[in-house]
Amino acid sequence: MWSLMLHNILPSLEPADFKVLKVLDRYLGRFEYVPIEVIESRVRLSPKKVMKSLMKLSEIKAVIKGGAGNRGYRLTYLGLDLLAVNLLAKKEIITHLGPPIGVGKESEIYLAKLREGPEAAIKFYRIGRISFQKVVRVRDYLTDEANWLIRSKTAAEREYKALKDLMRFTRHVPKVFGWSKHAVVMEYLQGVELHKLRDLPKPREVLMDLLSVLRVAYKQLGIVHGDLSEYNVIVSEGSWEPYIIDWPQYLYIHDPRHEDVLRRDVWNLIKFFKRRYGVNVELDAALRYVKGESYGEWETP
Ligand SMILES: Nc1ncnc2c1ncn2[C@@H]1O[C@H](COP(=O)(O)OP(=O)(O)O)[C@@H](O)[C@H]1O
Ligand SMILES: [Mg+2]
Repeated sequence: MWSLMLHNILPSLEPADFKVLKVLDRYLGRFEYVPIEVIESRVRLSPKKVMKSLMKLSEIKAVIKGGAGNRGYRLTYLGLDLLAVNLLAKKEIITHLGPPIGVGKESEIYLAKLREGPEAAIKFYRIGRISFQKVVRVRDYLTDEANWLIRSKTAAEREYKALKDLMRFTRHVPKVFGWSKHAVVMEYLQGVELHKLRDLPKPREVLMDLLSVLRVAYKQLGIVHGDLSEYNVIVSEGSWEPYIIDWPQYLYIHDPRHEDVLRRDVWNLIKFFKRRYGVNVELDAALRYVKGESYGEWETP
């Protein structure tokens, strides 16, 4: 199962190659293509070594050549993957990278092994890559892919922070172990996405658990999820414990849009539970519960 060891995934890459990738990453927001002179001066290796690295990295498509006079290079998603995995391994957050296990609308998920403990999942953000949606550019003068890489890094950092805070208050989100670049390492949830589950033994309890996550997010952290639906809930096999995933777009409650967004999140859940499992919960009652204005019609104080 763990045939894809890191040293196979990172084929023949040497410290010099990572130095080059690191410089390209550092200058990601500043140049469309980082000029070769800039790379050479920052890497502190001989021009010959730099060129050898760049040729190797080009061949595996971790970097792409272009720009003025065709004398620059930029990172690709693969280049950023290699950097992130290398850093996560260096920090001993993961020891092995496993096979891919899923694709989302903005991400690819791989299995990984932690230094100790259970299996983990690594979510590599792929903003702009998978759904090819029009993405608002962070910086105008950059290629689309460079803009996507920057946005993917921001998304990973946001998701890491949200999960780190949330896991202090609820067990119904994946535990998070670390993050690097555009990659987040989190608990591997062995289960099924909620939208695929025809039969759920205690749907009302599951809905209640999900609303309880929104409640701690709102009351303890002052955030709302922002993209909640049956597609961002995983129910674990056997125990039927639900988990809310996919947090990077969360909003703070001082954002004027949060009211509408929270209402939509809660409504998506309630609507699904009613249609699929016949569970009746009133939207306003659920909202009051989430905001801490009531204990919920399901609980006694
Ligand atoms: N921690 C995890 N454990 C197991 N599978 C996961 C985990 N996180 C995500 N997945 C799988 O990957 C898919 C995409 O993840 P998600 O966080 O929703 O990203 P996206 O933004 O791409 O929708 C999920 O629908 C789920 O099937
Ligand atoms: Mg999702």
